[in-house]
Amino acid sequence: MPIISSIDEAVARLMRGDIVALPTETVYGLGGDARNPLAIRQIYAAKGRPAGHPVIVHLARDASIDPWAISSERAEILAKAFWPGPLTIVLPKQEDVPSELSGGLSTIGLRKPSHPLFQAVLTKLNTGLAAPSANRFGRISPTTAAHVIDELGQDIAVLDGGPCTIGIESTIVDLSGDIPAILRHGSIEAAAIETLIGPLGDSATIAPGTLKSHYAPLTALLLSNDPDADRRRLEEKGHTVAVMNATKPAEYARNLYAELRRLDALGVDFLIAERAELKGIGAAVNDRLQRASHSFSTS
Ligand code: TXA
Ligand code: MG
Repeated sequence: MPIISSIDEAVARLMRGDIVALPTETVYGLGGDARNPLAIRQIYAAKGRPAGHPVIVHLARDASIDPWAISSERAEILAKAFWPGPLTIVLPKQEDVPSELSGGLSTIGLRKPSHPLFQAVLTKLNTGLAAPSANRFGRISPTTAAHVIDELGQDIAVLDGGPCTIGIESTIVDLSGDIPAILRHGSIEAAAIETLIGPLGDSATIAPGTLKSHYAPLTALLLSNDPDADRRRLEEKGHTVAVMNATKPAEYARNLYAELRRLDALGVDFLIAERAELKGIGAAVNDRLQRASHSFSTS
């Protein structure tokens, strides 16, 4: 019985060190008690994720970040503006934060998600939850409970919160160095962050999840400005093709991963995704499509 609907059951499982997939406003996360190294190990095992990849610690809306990280004025400003919500802030970690969480780095990524079910679980647990996206390593993030089961199998408990409203992962901003930098684009735009804390620079840090090939369907994916022309070109060569047309950026983002999954299952030779309009979350959609298409080149 992998799908659970009770917050109390999710909390009970997490308290005894088990892992539970939980809905957030961005994508589903695979949650475990952030202070329990055995829970963290279970998360890595379930995802097939190599060690050395840091995970984001999720906190209740009223929780202090002090037990986890060394805060700063910039961090306070961004937290006040965007939490709870789809922003992850990377800060120098406190010494006693388990190194399993930080992948051996001296920093930690923190986020206060806005999803009411995730918040209810966090408030009852009274600790942080480590939660990477609940997909197999390198694959498409899940935006429904059914996707989680497709990815991780029937043995994982999933708290069903319906489809995620944003649909792509949080914006990650690195505040651990002198100059703040975006490590991953998301629905909170760089411009909105710059308005509050000043110019962003290039990060010296590499977020392992920003590896070039990521979020990948199994079918070769082509990112296109002109999907009709590309479709014709490929069909003339005898290939079968499925096309994902761009819609308004927020809607495109919300449906992106579900559509990629659906089209990937068709068994065609090529998927063509139309480039998103460069407005709002559109830049983050293009970033994900670019990474999903990395292994494929038309030349
Ligand atoms: O929207 C989200 O952020 C979702 C939901 C579940 O909250 N979580 C998520 O986690 O996307 P994950 O583990 O799939 O991606 C987190 C990314 C990874 O690329 C990881 O390398 C990076 O964040 N990251 C985490 N902590 C970091 C740190 N201390 N320094 C640099 N990058 C970090
Ligand atoms: Mg992920």
